[in-house]
Order: sequence, then C-alpha cells, then structure tokens
Amino acid sequence: MEYKKILIGISGSIGAVEIHSYLTEIHQRFNCSMNIIMTESAKKIVNPDSLKYFVDGYVFDNMFDSYSEFKIPHVHLPNWADVLIILPATANIIGKIANGIADDLLATTAMAATCPVIIVPNTNEHMYNRRAVQRNIQELKEDGYLFIEPEGEGVQLSTKKKIKGAMPSPKEFVSQLEGMILHA
Ligand SMILES: Cc1cc2nc3c(=O)[nH]c(=O)nc-3n(C[C@H](O)[C@H](O)[C@H](O)COP(=O)(O)O)c2cc1C
Repeated sequence: MEYKKILIGISGSIGAVEIHSYLTEIHQRFNCSMNIIMTESAKKIVNPDSLKYFVDGYVFDNMFDSYSEFKIPHVHLPNWADVLIILPATANIIGKIANGIADDLLATTAMAATCPVIIVPNTNEHMYNRRAVQRNIQELKEDGYLFIEPEGEGVQLSTKKKIKGAMPSPKEFVSQLEGMILHA
C-alpha cells in the first residue's frame, strides 16, 4: 500500500479513552507515519505520554511552540500531512471549525489544511441530535469535510447505558477510512 502521512487530531470526547485501539488499527492497516495534535480537553482524558509510541514526530498541543521542522505547527503540519483525521471529534471542535473559530492548534490546523479532513464525531446522543450540532455537520459536509458517522449502539462509559451514536469499532472505522485514504 502507498505510504501515507497521517495527522491525527484528538479532542476532548470520552471516545478518546479508546484512542490507542484506533491508532493501533491504523498502524496495522496502513503504511504510514503519524503526528498527533491534542486539545487541552483531550489531555485531561488521555495521557499525552502514552501516545508518543504511535508517532514518528510529535504529540503537538501548543500553537505557539516550535517543534523542530514544524516551526509554526499550524502552517507546517498541513504541508506535511496527506490527511487529517479528527478522532474523536467533540461537538465543540465541530462547531469551531464550522464557524471559523481558530483559537487552538487543532481548529486552526483543520482550517489551514489543504489535504482532506476526516471528522469522526463522538458526542452523547442528545448532543449529537441537537440542531446546532447537526447544522454544523451539514455545513462542514457542504464545505468538503469528510465524515465517518457514528453508527449502531455502544456503551456510554459515563452511564454504562447502551446508546445510539457510538463511534464505529476500530476495525469498522479503519475499513471506512481505507476507502477514503486511498483517494486522499
Ligand atoms: C469526562 C468527559 C467526557 C466528555 N465527553 C464528551 C463527548 O463524548 N463529546 C463531546 O462533544 N464533549 C464531551 N465532553 C465535553 C468536552 O470535553 C468539552 O466540550 C470541551 O470543551 C471540548 O474541548 P475540545 O473540543 O477543545 O477538545 C466531555 C467532558 C468530560 C469531562
């Protein structure tokens, strides 16, 4: 398979507790190098140190820090990446990108990106069905952002209840991603 440079953006959704399984599956399926951006909220849910084993470069978290060849990360990361995958995507990051709010490294990079951007929403069912969130998703689709939609039922960790709108399993996610990345 063709070599790909994959930029992962992790936002502060509870789905981030499962990020290691998704990243492992991506590395198993693709011939790729990876960099990661985390939001401040994501760092409260998953330890950034535990992600450094997945990257060839860095786990980025600050728009104003310089990281070697990525001196201005929101400018240099989009030049590097073949694809940006926001996994998981909060209602907040979806809303920021849809409305042009570039106040952190992930939102700014997503807006500066010229490569395909794939968004994987993960919110609770009520947030996901909220008109504001659906409106933002629709706008982003019209603007050319790609989505891997929640599907089926999953267990919501905070309540232990079965809910609709869970992220696809890592294997199902990567199968969908494969079709998109082959064309990226
Ligand atoms: C334990 C916990 C779990 C959360 N899970 C979600 C979630 O699944 N989806 C979501 O949209 N927001 C979730 N939030 C709220 C976001 O973390 C919050 O909106 C935050 O501002 C998002 O920031 P970010 O988009 O910059 O990562 C959660 C918050 C906490 C404390």
